[in-house]
Amino acid sequence: MLSGKNILIGITGGIAAYKICELIRMYKRMNANVRVVCTPNALNFVTKLTLQNLSQNDVGVEEFNIEQYKPEHISYADEADIMVIAPATANTIGKIANGICDNLLTSVVCAFNKPIIIAPAMNCGMWENEFVQENIMKLVNAGFYIMEPESGFLACGYEGKGRLCSLDKIYDKTVELLSVNKILSGKKVVITSGGTIEAIDTVRYISNYSSGKMGAALADVAYEMGADVILITTKDVQKPYGVVKVKSAIDMKDAVEREYDSSDCIIMAAAVADYRAKNIADYKMKKSESNEISIELIKNPDILKSLCEMKQKEAVAVGKGSSVLNIEPHKSPVIVGFCAESENLMENAKIKIAKKGCDYLIANDISRKDIGFSSDYNEVSVISKSGTIKNLSKATKKEIAKQIFEEIYG
Ligand code: C5P
Repeated sequence: MLSGKNILIGITGGIAAYKICELIRMYKRMNANVRVVCTPNALNFVTKLTLQNLSQNDVGVEEFNIEQYKPEHISYADEADIMVIAPATANTIGKIANGICDNLLTSVVCAFNKPIIIAPAMNCGMWENEFVQENIMKLVNAGFYIMEPESGFLACGYEGKGRLCSLDKIYDKTVELLSVNKILSGKKVVITSGGTIEAIDTVRYISNYSSGKMGAALADVAYEMGADVILITTKDVQKPYGVVKVKSAIDMKDAVEREYDSSDCIIMAAAVADYRAKNIADYKMKKSESNEISIELIKNPDILKSLCEMKQKEAVAVGKGSSVLNIEPHKSPVIVGFCAESENLMENAKIKIAKKGCDYLIANDISRKDIGFSSDYNEVSVISKSGTIKNLSKATKKEIAKQIFEEIYG
């Protein structure tokens, strides 16, 4: 996977810098081309000669090299397919998050427009510092891949979170990002996620246990595959792509329909409540003397079905020859639904795809504890309108998301 790839490693001045010698060897063993840029402080922990020998390349530290005609930060940024900053100190993280470029490494980052992995390592108190955390959130929002530090015994003598994550994790993330197929580039993908929240009064609501993880994984992967992504969700999330926060099924329907015309693919991964309270009290309802109360519920609109009906109408209009008007017909989006069942999964899924009229239905068994709701794993079947079935075996939700897009667009 890494053969011939250009990996730029950025090393900053933390004690974990010595571990990066092994990371360079791991990449080199797979025939990657490795170049290293260091902050001047990094060289207090590891020598330039070591890094040069391991990477078999010059090591960049100085920003202004008078023997080079090209500005160095631009050439480093142009040549690399990916940048890996490890260890990343609180200082360098702060500079990157605030656009400061006062050395070669930070200037390269500023000019870099490909994936950047950041593996922080620092004292646990520094990691917990609210400004450091604010900077990390800024980087997450801007699309940097942060490798969370691990907990344990730290070089400074403290016990806590701050150790550089394992080199295997950094290596695997590098492989994952370099093997992403940009099959969604130029496409707009809209994804819904989370359980809808249906108000009863000003303080109470009806909802469900959906974690929103499958929808978020689909959105993350679509983004990595080059799509313009909109995630319509009931959860609080910070992402480097568009997020629309909604509460109820009605809000979600409005938000999705607003995106319909401009989207190429809509995936309804949200757990939309089937019913909502008929009357929502605009005050906090009082406890009554009675042991029982009733809340009258009415059916929510079926968002997926109504999207499929919109698509059907477009197909009919095009069929009737609306293009005679010389208007380019709207290219209807691919519509994908989810089918969460606890019994007779495939039978119900086949009935559902026909009833809803969507192009694909992703069927998952929510009776299993090891996958589905709240889990980071899933195991699904992708059923198409034409009747094909592709079973995707148990994997992380991100891996499943990748395989779903490959099934639809591959
Ligand atoms: O009908 P059922 O809830 O089993 O179908 C699940 C699929 O339909 C999911 O894709 C879900 O997001 C969508 N759905 C919807 N509107 C509803 C209920 C479900 O779009 N009111």
